[in-house]
Amino acid sequence: MRPEDLPQTVEDYRRAAGAALPPATAAWLNGGAGDEITLRRNEAAFDALPLMPRVLRDGGSGDTSLTLLGTRLDHPILVAPMAWQRLLHPDAERALAAGATAQGARMVLSAQATTPLAEARGAGALCDWFQLYWLGREGTLALARRAADAGYAALMLTVDAPVAGQRPREMRAGFALPPDLSPVNLAGLPRPAAGSFEEVMAAAPRWADLEWLCAAAPLPVLAKGILHPGDAARAVAAGAAGVVVSNHGGRVLDGLPASVEALPAVASALAGRAPVLVDGGIRRGTDVLRALALGADAVMVGRPAAWALAVAGALGVAHVLRLLRDELRIAMAIAGCRSPRDIGPSLIFRQNPPEGCLTASSQAK
Ligand SMILES: Cc1cc2nc3c(=O)[nH]c(=O)nc-3n(C[C@H](O)[C@H](O)[C@H](O)COP(=O)(O)O)c2cc1C
Repeated sequence: MRPEDLPQTVEDYRRAAGAALPPATAAWLNGGAGDEITLRRNEAAFDALPLMPRVLRDGGSGDTSLTLLGTRLDHPILVAPMAWQRLLHPDAERALAAGATAQGARMVLSAQATTPLAEARGAGALCDWFQLYWLGREGTLALARRAADAGYAALMLTVDAPVAGQRPREMRAGFALPPDLSPVNLAGLPRPAAGSFEEVMAAAPRWADLEWLCAAAPLPVLAKGILHPGDAARAVAAGAAGVVVSNHGGRVLDGLPASVEALPAVASALAGRAPVLVDGGIRRGTDVLRALALGADAVMVGRPAAWALAVAGALGVAHVLRLLRDELRIAMAIAGCRSPRDIGPSLIFRQNPPEGCLTASSQAK
């Protein structure tokens, strides 16, 4: 490969994955719900947030580390749960786990993984959070126990997809799961009947179920897919160990705010009582910086890791995460931030601050 052909950015990986994957698989990976307004908005919202650097400050050493649910991490970039990774690379979740761990990135294994959870856990020390879809109380608890027995350290219950979203792009491309793919980790679990729409909705989780799971599960539970600050507060009151501000990468319901637009109100509702993560549209280190400035403790990337997995397996995943880490560190240094503690809302430039917002003088600390 010529140097000019090596991917240098997440965007390069997106293009390379588009060329490498069968068109129907690319449509499944890249597409979103409905007219894909939310999908586009997730990225556009980051573009629309200019950064306001501070100069001539003490340099520091570009510390990006943090403690998340009791574990020290080198940086705040996690890999989001993504289903069916064998569609992208034969080494699937094992490659993602190895690549993420090589770059100090925690990975969340999807409930719809194509690799047994113990095998994925063994492929990378930082593949240690497990995502759950609701399977009814008995099935969900049994799955949570399987994850705990395999050495996972936390669970992430996805709450924004009581039914599957409609994704016209993949429907037009004729995408269908190959018959030999199955959610291997769900085998043998009791599951509610899921035939008609009514049956699926009747089996969807409610607040009482989240509260029950947080009390019954052997591991801390984060709630993924929260946009409303009231829901965030309610999740923490129900016992959630953290929340993920997310619209599922624009894949479930179209017409939602970008997750980074919903983030500040959630962060202020929780006021540090529980960690706030955000995902959706993060494509550069500067986007990570923007998310931290608006109140996130950490971020998750989905498609960037999937594109890199499709292009170059574990090496690609490690490389794309390295790029994001480096971009974050450099952006922090140039913006005058020695560590995440220096990152706050005044890092976001506002031309006409609405009444009640920080003004230039109140930011001049
Ligand atoms: C191909 C694909 C599969 C996904 N599968 C899951 C899943 O199994 N469980 C889940 O909670 N979220 C799933 N998501 C959503 C991601 O966890 C995450 O919220 C989203 O990808 C973040 O947006 P980004 O792709 O713009 O970074 C999936 C996303 C993609 C792109």
